[in-house]
Amino acid sequence: MSIQAVCCKLLLLLQNCILHALHCCYYFTIFEGHIFITLLKANRIYKAFNSLQVLKGIDVNVARGEIVSIVGASGAGKSTLLHILGSLDNPDRGSVELEDQSLFELNPKDLAIFRNQKIGFVFQFHNLLPEFTAFENVCLPGFIGNRNETEVKDQATELLTYLGMQARFDHKPSELSGGEQQRAAVARALINNPAVILADEPSGNLDSQNARELHQLFFDLRSKFNQTFIVVTHNEELASMTDRKLEIKDGIIQ
Ligand SMILES: Nc1ncnc2c1ncn2[C@@H]1O[C@H](COP(=O)(O)OP(=O)(O)OP(=O)(O)O)[C@@H](O)[C@H]1O
Ligand SMILES: [Mg+2]
Repeated sequence: MSIQAVCCKLLLLLQNCILHALHCCYYFTIFEGHIFITLLKANRIYKAFNSLQVLKGIDVNVARGEIVSIVGASGAGKSTLLHILGSLDNPDRGSVELEDQSLFELNPKDLAIFRNQKIGFVFQFHNLLPEFTAFENVCLPGFIGNRNETEVKDQATELLTYLGMQARFDHKPSELSGGEQQRAAVARALINNPAVILADEPSGNLDSQNARELHQLFFDLRSKFNQTFIVVTHNEELASMTDRKLEIKDGIIQ
């Protein structure tokens, strides 16, 4: 083999190594000296409502098993960002990838399926359907995802029992306390084993004791299932418990 051919081969090898290293940087997050696999990656997110520019180029990287909080003043754009991360709203510019899948490249039908399988939501007001029992509410995302009925019911039983709701299966949301409603909402968010749970002010409607229990539950679920959470909160206690606090101010993460 000529010297030129050897040089060409070496150059190609070097190029492949650089590309591989770049790929690794892209999908790994280094935090406090540890390397984590990036689960969710948002790049340069911009969002305006008419003339109000709310998000001005937000980057977010979240590793699997992380619990990250998003904080900031009222109107800073926390819910707007969370909705975009959860594909409930489109950014004007920017991309969101979850488990290497670029959300906004999916057509609406595939995006709805992907969201059902991969993202769980918990809101300030539980958003349980009033005409269904706690058990039925928890099962619904599994049925919507066309999963096996027995498997979904078994999992709902297991989750509700784990969350201390065994005596409340057949209660409708109006017959549950605020804390119980939120625990049912967490079980509903977990039913399809999502990659990430996005929570918007999950304890905003709870008294301090129930809020504390709900926060602890997130950490228990991380320990048990390596569950990833991104939580928008005004609750200082919760924010300081999380692995990382991202503060939105003036449309960017400070
Ligand atoms: N659909 C919409 N149309 C017009 N303006 C909107 C819309 N949604 C949000 N906004 C505006 O965008 C800004 C950011 O709203 P967002 O709900 O993201 O704030 P937030 O940080 O979640 O606030 P809070 O802590 O009060 O929930 C606010 O000024 C809000 O009025
Ligand atoms: Mg909000």
